[in-house]
Amino acid sequence: MNKILINFSHPAKSKSKINAALLKAVLGLESVTINDLYDNYPDFMIDIRREQALCEEHDVIIFLYPFYWYQAPSIVKEWLDLVLEHGWAYGSKGKSLKGKLFTLAITAGGDGLSYTKEGVNGFTINELISPFIATSNLCSMRWVEPFTVLGVHRGLPEKQLLTEAENFRSFILNLRDGEIKGERA
Ligand SMILES: Cc1cc2nc3c(=O)[nH]c(=O)nc-3n(C[C@H](O)[C@H](O)[C@H](O)COP(=O)(O)O)c2cc1C
Repeated sequence: MNKILINFSHPAKSKSKINAALLKAVLGLESVTINDLYDNYPDFMIDIRREQALCEEHDVIIFLYPFYWYQAPSIVKEWLDLVLEHGWAYGSKGKSLKGKLFTLAITAGGDGLSYTKEGVNGFTINELISPFIATSNLCSMRWVEPFTVLGVHRGLPEKQLLTEAENFRSFILNLRDGEIKGERA
C-alpha cells in the first residue's frame, strides 16, 4: 500500500466549497496523510526539515489547491522554493524524491473549453502546470496526470459536488493501491 501525502493549500479554507468537499472525501483514509500548509504555516515560515521528512515517509506527493491566477496559491511556491533543496531533491546527491509519484489536484473556475488554445484562457491546464511537470522530471519523480475539477466559478450543484468528491476519493485510493503507476513526463 502506497503512503500518500496530500499537501492541502487553500488560503481561505473557511470559504471553500469544492476543495473542502474533496478534502472531506479523503479524511481518515488509511495510509493517507493530510498536511494543511496554510494551517501549519500562517506566517509562511515553512519548517523545511519537517516537510522533507514527510516527503521521505510517503510514496506519493500531491498538492490539492484552487487555481489562482493560473497558478497555485503562493504558499505552494514558497514550499517548492524552500523544501526542494539541492543535494536533497535534485543534483548528483539529491535522490530523496527519486521514484516517488507526484501529482496535483486542482479546482478551477474556468471550464474545460476555456482551457484550450482557442478558449478564453488560451492555454491548457497541462501547459499552465508545466513547471510542476518539469520539477517532477528534475527530481526523478514519476508524474501522474492531475485530478481536476473545472468550471466551478458559480459553485457546483450538490449532486455534482458529491460525484466529484467521490471521484477524488477513487483517484486517491487508486494511487494508494498501486493502480496508477506514473512515469517520467
Ligand atoms: C484570487 C483568485 C484567483 C483565481 N484565479 C483563477 C484562475 O486563474 N483560473 C480559474 O479558472 N479560476 C480562478 N479562480 C477561481 C477559483 O479557482 C475557484 O473559486 C476555486 O477553485 C473554487 O474552489 P473552493 O470552493 O475550494 O474555493 C480564482 C479565484 C480567486 C479567489
